[in-house]
Amino acid sequence: MCGIVGYIGNLQAASVLLNGLKRLEYRGYDSAGISLLEYGKFENLKKVGKVSVLESMFDEHEFNSTLGIAHTRWATHGEPNDVNAHPHQDNSGKISLVHNGIIENYSSLKAQLMKSGYNFLSETDSEVLAVFIGSLYEKFGDFEKAVRLALMEVRGTFGITVLCSDDPDCLIAARRGSPLIFGVGDGEYIVASDASAIIQYTRSVVYLNDNEMAVIRRNGYTTKTIQNEEIIKQVNQIEFELESIEKGGFEHFMLKEIFEQAKTVKDSMRGRLLPDEGKVRLGGLLPVMEQLRNAKRIIITACGTSWHSALVGEYIIESLAQIPVEVEYASEFRYRNPVILPNDLVIAISQSGETADTLAAIREASQKGATVIGIVNVVGSTIARETQAGIYLHAGPEIGVASTKAFTSQIVVLSLIGIMLGRMRNLSATDGKSLVRELMSLPEKIDRMLENTSSILQIAESYKKNKNFLYLGRGYNFPAALEGALKLKEISYIHAEGYPAAEMKHGPIALIDENMPVVFIATKDEIYEKVISNIEEVSARRGKIIAIATEGDESIKKWAKHVIYIPETIPMFIPILAAIPMQLLAYHIAVKLGRDVDKPRNLAKSVTVE
Ligand code: M6R
Repeated sequence: MCGIVGYIGNLQAASVLLNGLKRLEYRGYDSAGISLLEYGKFENLKKVGKVSVLESMFDEHEFNSTLGIAHTRWATHGEPNDVNAHPHQDNSGKISLVHNGIIENYSSLKAQLMKSGYNFLSETDSEVLAVFIGSLYEKFGDFEKAVRLALMEVRGTFGITVLCSDDPDCLIAARRGSPLIFGVGDGEYIVASDASAIIQYTRSVVYLNDNEMAVIRRNGYTTKTIQNEEIIKQVNQIEFELESIEKGGFEHFMLKEIFEQAKTVKDSMRGRLLPDEGKVRLGGLLPVMEQLRNAKRIIITACGTSWHSALVGEYIIESLAQIPVEVEYASEFRYRNPVILPNDLVIAISQSGETADTLAAIREASQKGATVIGIVNVVGSTIARETQAGIYLHAGPEIGVASTKAFTSQIVVLSLIGIMLGRMRNLSATDGKSLVRELMSLPEKIDRMLENTSSILQIAESYKKNKNFLYLGRGYNFPAALEGALKLKEISYIHAEGYPAAEMKHGPIALIDENMPVVFIATKDEIYEKVISNIEEVSARRGKIIAIATEGDESIKKWAKHVIYIPETIPMFIPILAAIPMQLLAYHIAVKLGRDVDKPRNLAKSVTVE
């Protein structure tokens, strides 16, 4: 949510910053801007719209500056327009700042500053911070001190990068609650919201923690707390490759990520399966083995797609390990004084590892004494660092705003946890072996499924003009239906609801007529017959049935207008396979409607505000 880049070094900053913004655009894309310090003063360009709009403004300018900051915005305070776009300057024009997060006490600060004669151009909380820093700079004549004092005073969250025109060899970066890292090159440094903007220049990065700042000069940097205590930070290495954040010939990142899933599902289990023993090995959980053995209840907390995978996880873990599992929206968990009992295990799931609601939930759980583990994709992210132990998805960077490969990998990892907890309890070695075998067969099944997807294109063509969709499934397929509906709404803007198939008759059945496409996940499992009854109910009301069915099930054609076949697997792994055609259906409908699939309106890849 909002992408920040800052550069200090010897290269032309404008092009480094622009490249960085393009890499970070998935974090927010309603406006973009840049500040370059040149000959003692700032050159500022900012514009509503995507980074490409800002880029086109560069044609009329030539910049030689080697110090600058840039921002791609997801609006919180103030509508997306040129004035509200970042960077923001103070009244003297000496301070320029980009900000990600929310300054909660901005209105009282603003009133105070206005009383002292300061003016504001925008409606943003971020400009208040810039003006506040400027006022302190005016008072003390010390840039670093001004930033520190301002940050000690503000409430809320920030990731900021700030420059002062009086000091052309200094860039200050600081964070509380919003991610910020910096790359360490040879005489050059790049600050960014995430590693994707840095990897092109260096693999060495420093992760800032909350209430830490870096004062960066061309000949080195110091890191300290906002309270001015020096700290030594470890330099880490970025693990992914540059090509993993490029489209690799696909029209969209989302399509690339859908087609990567045979590999990413495999990568999520690589080195973790012990087929001969019917067990799994999760090295990242070693520090909490004792707590896993003693766990009496599990609470899984997450948002969005990760919350859907958590629901699948609930069914899997309860079935394999017979431990009660509750799934909580992270945004609710935090604010309702939840009961945490001794021997509760809290699992946070997050692709980005930066979701503010999920972060707040794990802090709440830790504070109440729970053992907290993470299932996270982004290595080194805040949730990964703040949990006691965890398992990485190893799905590689997910750039498309709509989550795809993370979902399937999350279910794989939850299955691994289910098997591990089950084998610590009553799950037999024989059952463990067959589960492990089945998991191992999934990548080949996904590959096979992705070989021919033409029927999905035809279905997309037939239903692209519909205004509403229903997605129905039972058992493990109910959360999969929720996920199918979420994919369609977020990238096509078509209204879609996911529902437990049998629950439909308690209300949503009123919506069904010949204009309602209903996607049923109707795979061969123990409740297949029941799902067929639900299909009959829809069919009797002339709903248009699109069935996701098991290969070889010819009889389903009796009711379904369209059938998408998926390979057979055991019920708990069906969501992994069923998700993929639903992702493709949403994708093709969105493309046919001319939507910006990778950057759907109003969304951002990682939601770093509560
Ligand atoms: O990074 P996280 O998994 O914590 O993100 C949670 C949600 O914001 C995310 O899944 C969101 O719902 C996606 N747009 C879904 O496609």
